[in-house]
Amino acid sequence: MKNLTLLLILFLGFSACKQVEKKAVHIEKEYYGTTKEGKEVDRYTLSNDSGMKVHIITFGGIITHLYVPNATGGLNDVVLGCDSLSDYEKGSPYFGALIGRYGNRIADGTFTLDDQTYSLVQNDGKNHLHGGTKGFDKVVWDASSRIENGKAVLQLNYLSKDMEEGYPGNLNTEVTYTLSKANILEVSYRATTDKKTVLNLTQHAYFNLSGTADILNHELKLNAPHYLPVDETLIPTGEIASVAGTPFDFTSFKAIGRDIKKEDIQLERGLGYDHCWVLDDSNKGLRSAAILQEVNSGIQLEVFTDQPAIQFYSGNFLDGTNPMKQSDSFYNYRSGLCLETQHFPNSPNQASFPSTELSPGEVYSTKTQFKFTLIN
Ligand code: GLA
Repeated sequence: MKNLTLLLILFLGFSACKQVEKKAVHIEKEYYGTTKEGKEVDRYTLSNDSGMKVHIITFGGIITHLYVPNATGGLNDVVLGCDSLSDYEKGSPYFGALIGRYGNRIADGTFTLDDQTYSLVQNDGKNHLHGGTKGFDKVVWDASSRIENGKAVLQLNYLSKDMEEGYPGNLNTEVTYTLSKANILEVSYRATTDKKTVLNLTQHAYFNLSGTADILNHELKLNAPHYLPVDETLIPTGEIASVAGTPFDFTSFKAIGRDIKKEDIQLERGLGYDHCWVLDDSNKGLRSAAILQEVNSGIQLEVFTDQPAIQFYSGNFLDGTNPMKQSDSFYNYRSGLCLETQHFPNSPNQASFPSTELSPGEVYSTKTQFKFTLIN
């Protein structure tokens, strides 16, 4: 009898735990809008009982809102975005979007693979940027969601057809957003091709942890002792330069605004920071790449990735013309910053850079995590 009671208590305790675990994350789906081409777009909301909540739409896999707990017990929406599908369709500066097939720039919009030369649209001066005219940020992804191992999972799939935007191979792409109880939003990417191609997928969220007019007071640390200097068109020169003694040294916490106005040819070319930092590879695999802090909100964002580099872009092209969501005003110069985990820009034309080629039979598989905590 005693044993039976004990068993009953254990069973009830176990079910209670299970229930708590089941309820710790949530997923909702609703209609968001219809594209100009007549495709329906849904909005998924992943949330957890720690207060974190993220809205993601199937158009571009865009994170439209990302609410995280601040130090005073409230929630801050820490990403820039638009209010409607038509605003995103008109073309935002890649607010919150998935970027593909090639995040960042390919010089002169051309590359050669196995003696075959491919031509891409030159949508950034003479260079190709962020996958072209209709990149992964502007397509509607198939979506399915589930709760798995106590985490909220949104799986997005897109088949990019052979020669879409000029890239070879039918590319089966899968991007999975996963929200955990511990306020980690993970983005994992998987792709396969039926023809040799190049690939560099990333996420283009613009962060502002406090909602202030600009991000110059945010403190940033990059676990990167080197960066890639660029030419006048923001294509890496090929040099892998040490950050020591330059405005590009973020190896310990530094306010973004501290050196941004210093006289420096690289800052001049980027109009601020718009460069790729080479991550410290001493610990390959998923590792801390960047930590961003804002003291007034008390919020800290740590970015983990298995990618070789991170593009830190200080929002230098934001010019007060993009309407601010849920507001009558506009996003100002440098009101958000991007931390885009990726391979080096222009790798297809730079043999000394890590390869971005993907061949049939291989699986492209990479992951990045955005972890939100309070500054301690
Ligand atoms: C990237 C680029 C920037 C700019 C933005 C979008 O981060 O590096 O130069 O093109 O995207 O505006």
